[in-house]
Amino acid sequence: MPTSQASQASAQALAEVAAGLDADHASISPKFLYDELGSHLFEAICELDEYYPTRTEAAIFRRHAADIAHAIGAGSTMIDLGAGNCAKAASLFPLLHPAQYVPIDISADFLEDAVESLRQRFPYIEMSALPLDFSAGLDLPATVSEQKRLFFYPGSSIGNFTPAQAHDLLARMRGQCGADGGILIGMDLVKDAGVLNAAYDDAVGVTSAFNLNVLRHLNRLVGTDFDVRQWRHVAFYNPTESRVEMHLEAIEDTTVSWPGGRRSFMHGERIHTENSYKYRKDAAVALLAQAGFRTTDVWTDDDEWFAVLYARAEGTG
Ligand code: AVJ
Repeated sequence: MPTSQASQASAQALAEVAAGLDADHASISPKFLYDELGSHLFEAICELDEYYPTRTEAAIFRRHAADIAHAIGAGSTMIDLGAGNCAKAASLFPLLHPAQYVPIDISADFLEDAVESLRQRFPYIEMSALPLDFSAGLDLPATVSEQKRLFFYPGSSIGNFTPAQAHDLLARMRGQCGADGGILIGMDLVKDAGVLNAAYDDAVGVTSAFNLNVLRHLNRLVGTDFDVRQWRHVAFYNPTESRVEMHLEAIEDTTVSWPGGRRSFMHGERIHTENSYKYRKDAAVALLAQAGFRTTDVWTDDDEWFAVLYARAEGTG
């Protein structure tokens, strides 16, 4: 009997979740934070006083839009990674004038709706939505022009990857752009630990809900039996690793079962759910250089809390 694609995908998710829970230091991939409720909670996080990245990056795009457009030049093939509602890219269109816009996101329906309304507003930009998980590979179809490819990777999403993984992803982007290609990327910068701790552990508890929701999501997705009330949100800046870590900590001894396995957690034991790496400006430039990109511009806010970098493909393409 042929296995459906959906059940293959959920079998793979179960295998991945089980491996993470079975490890000495248990972990859950941050990609599981984003079910429908999780996506809404992330949007709510972006409204919080303490969560500065989204609004700081948006202010940088507004303030430096003309410089950004001038550095990149018109007529690019703009490839938007993790596009969501495409609003960040669309805010740059009036000055950037890309020739083609290629938003990539895991959620196909969401993407098609967003692109449809953008087509009305910007009829002169050719648009083709690509529903795919680019973390699994970045082979672009022939419909994506090879002219002046610009990878757009805003939101400091690169921070979810370890520096080694980030290098590999950036190198794959480099491999997909010719000699005239480049990348426009938003990266969160190292700053006062108090600011970082508050941004990931807000007073209202939205980030706590966002983190705990991963357990509810896994219960539905792969059949774990987490009791959400037995866990609490823990988030802190780890200066040695230059990253904010999110964990879920057992508030009592507890056992979790899933199809084919189970594990006990002692009171105080943690499941690591997310890393959010913070870079110094020179480390961000160095990371891009190691992947084959030469940074020409770094735009920041006055406090230097967040950076938007434009880097060109260097060497053979
Ligand atoms: C969407 C990965 C950029 O790391 O700041 C927000 C996710 N986690 N609050 C981040 C997140 C907790 C966010 N990124």
